[in-house]
Amino acid sequence: MAEARIMPGAPVAAAVLGDVAQRVKALAEMGRSVGLGTILVGDDPASAGYIRMKQAKAVDLSIHSSHTQLPGHAAQVDLVAAIRAMNDDPRVDAMLVQHPVPAGIDYEAALSEMDPNKDVDGLHPFNMGRLALSMPGPVPCTPAGIEALLAHYQIPVAGRHVVILGRGTTLGRPLALLLSQKRPTANAAVTVVHSGIPSWDDYTRQADIVIAAAGVPGILRPEHVRPGAVVVGGGVRYEGRRLLPDVDESVAEVAGWITPRVGGVGPTTVAMLFRNTVVAAERRAPASKSGGATAGESG
Ligand SMILES: NC(=O)c1ccc[n+]([C@@H]2O[C@H](COP(=O)([O-])OP(=O)(O)OC[C@H]3O[C@@H](n4cnc5c(N)ncnc54)[C@H](OP(=O)(O)O)[C@@H]3O)[C@@H](O)[C@H]2O)c1
Repeated sequence: MAEARIMPGAPVAAAVLGDVAQRVKALAEMGRSVGLGTILVGDDPASAGYIRMKQAKAVDLSIHSSHTQLPGHAAQVDLVAAIRAMNDDPRVDAMLVQHPVPAGIDYEAALSEMDPNKDVDGLHPFNMGRLALSMPGPVPCTPAGIEALLAHYQIPVAGRHVVILGRGTTLGRPLALLLSQKRPTANAAVTVVHSGIPSWDDYTRQADIVIAAAGVPGILRPEHVRPGAVVVGGGVRYEGRRLLPDVDESVAEVAGWITPRVGGVGPTTVAMLFRNTVVAAERRAPASKSGGATAGESG
């Protein structure tokens, strides 16, 4: 069988960011700036690198950045105070707390302190509820990026069987909610498998689309995939600077379409972060006529 066709994320991200730039410009013409707030606890080099990358991208898009740096020994109350300050800061339309946080900080509890309308990652319990109910609100960035990626490559999703390997809160669970919504780029039969399903490959072998969201390097192998199926690699683990994806490279020998080892889902995630930022700003702009994203909108 021929090698799979590759689905890089860069063209998808470029399309999303082009739209974001126009929307930022439209807000500027109404006298409104757009602001992204970031909070980093500790000095983990990878996390600091992610923050720098997001700040650089914000500059490219004429989005204002506000950053709060907390020491690694910061207490929960310090993080909550930083979040509340950004909740009250009119220059911040959307914000994030960079994950992972040091041991001793309860990330979920901190997230619950955030104004849900400023929650750029869409992970606040209120926003997960909005997603489950198909109500407008910020959609978690990686799931939104995956829906946009499939739409960009004109992979039919509606009416097809999607199997997601992993039910984590940043990826598998919200993605299952998103792709089962009634919408042309979703509307799929979605099966979620996880470590409680020892024979999970019985399910992935039946799938039209397999999405790996486990964070277990090389867990998805060619024998787990039906020939010709679409394979999206979302799960990754870092060992130092080395990125180890869930999808073994040899899966490309059986898949019909596949994301590349590097540069697949990642760039679409970043693009969706900025789309959520500009949508949050549009919602706050009193005179805005823009519609804004709904739990279903992507790309
Ligand atoms: N590319 C990107 O931009 C991006 C963005 C966000 C996240 N990610 C990656 O996406 C992955 C998932 O993130 P998350 O926060 O949702 O992760 P998570 O909360 O750690 O969830 C991992 C899921 O995988 C399942 N799993 C783990 N080992 C398994 C095994 N051997 N067999 C079957 N299932 C197994 C777990 O099952 P149980 O529930 O039974 O434990 C769990 O449901 C991570 O690798 C993360 O780094 C990537």
